[in-house]
Amino acid sequence: MTLRRLGQTDIHVSAIAMGCWPITGMTTLHANEADSLNTLRAALDSGINFFDTAYAYGIHGESEQMIGRIMAEYGRDRFVIATKGGLHRVGRGQDYDGRPETIQRECEESLQRLQTDHVELYYLHAWDKQTPIAETAAAIASLIQQGKVRSAGASNLTVAQLQQFHAVCPLTAVQPHFNMLQQEIEADIAPWCRDNGVSLCIYWPLMKGLLAGKLPRDHQFDPADGRAKYPMFQGQEWQKNQDFLDDLKAIASGLEMTVAQLVVAWTIAQPGITAALCGAKRDWQIQETAAAMELVLDDPTLSAIEGALQRRGPTVSRGAV
Ligand SMILES: NC(=O)c1ccc[n+]([C@@H]2O[C@H](COP(=O)([O-])OP(=O)(O)OC[C@H]3O[C@@H](n4cnc5c(N)ncnc54)[C@H](OP(=O)(O)O)[C@@H]3O)[C@@H](O)[C@H]2O)c1
Repeated sequence: MTLRRLGQTDIHVSAIAMGCWPITGMTTLHANEADSLNTLRAALDSGINFFDTAYAYGIHGESEQMIGRIMAEYGRDRFVIATKGGLHRVGRGQDYDGRPETIQRECEESLQRLQTDHVELYYLHAWDKQTPIAETAAAIASLIQQGKVRSAGASNLTVAQLQQFHAVCPLTAVQPHFNMLQQEIEADIAPWCRDNGVSLCIYWPLMKGLLAGKLPRDHQFDPADGRAKYPMFQGQEWQKNQDFLDDLKAIASGLEMTVAQLVVAWTIAQPGITAALCGAKRDWQIQETAAAMELVLDDPTLSAIEGALQRRGPTVSRGAV
């Protein structure tokens, strides 16, 4: 398995990271602890060494706790851990707090849950309007000096905010959303990362499961399924997305791969993208997406995907936090 360099560090990661949000079951239906632990094991067994989590994943940090248990089982050196701070749960909702004392405390709590003394990458999860970005960045720089964190990242920030952060604490990775249907980062964030040698570790490569192409056109969303609130899953956008998926199914079937594998292989081939964070709550899901690390799409396939995207046209998009 070829690993990729994370930013300018000597840390090397798999091109597919395991996204450790769905295993908490907070917006995903039918998650359970046994399957979640098996999903983490399956990720490792499929060649993934990069795990993406956050202080806010789970009401009591269950995502970090489960990763900690699997690290104890497999050995710390098999893992590159990215976690995030500055966003916390308030019941099933969330609140932002990027104050230095909060970042320090949340990071220490994350390390306890993960049963480790350091993480390879620590992100600011999202902007806290009350705290200047430079102050939060200085707190993460201090964590690096303390040896608790090896490199810094930022998620859900604008380019202007990334620049402010980078001036105080050089960034190794940036985490925005990106997938075939949501390519807004190409306007500014992606070029900025490429120019500055900063890795893009993107979330929602499957647009929360839509781009796995398995949800039928007449799918009725359970009210507890967090996806129903996003425009992509509603009305005319949903119908256009299903037409697009029909195009992708035709391309994938000719190549003897699944739609999820076609989508993820395309994603990790985009310039500047170091890793796609693929969420899963069952072992077979991450096994399927991890197999995309071995796939290379040829020029006719890339042209066929481009044609399908042209037919799809622009999408109505919305961020995560
Ligand atoms: N920084 C941020 O603010 C932020 C925000 C969002 C996510 N993230 C990170 O990015 C990761 C990825 O985002 P995500 O998990 O929300 O979305 P995603 O990776 O686009 O989609 C994951 C979902 O797709 C479905 N899926 C996965 N593999 C599948 C397969 N082989 N076949 C069919 N369905 C499959 C599963 O949903 P079902 O089983 O429910 O169908 C799964 O929960 C997260 O886990 C998290 O680590 C970060």
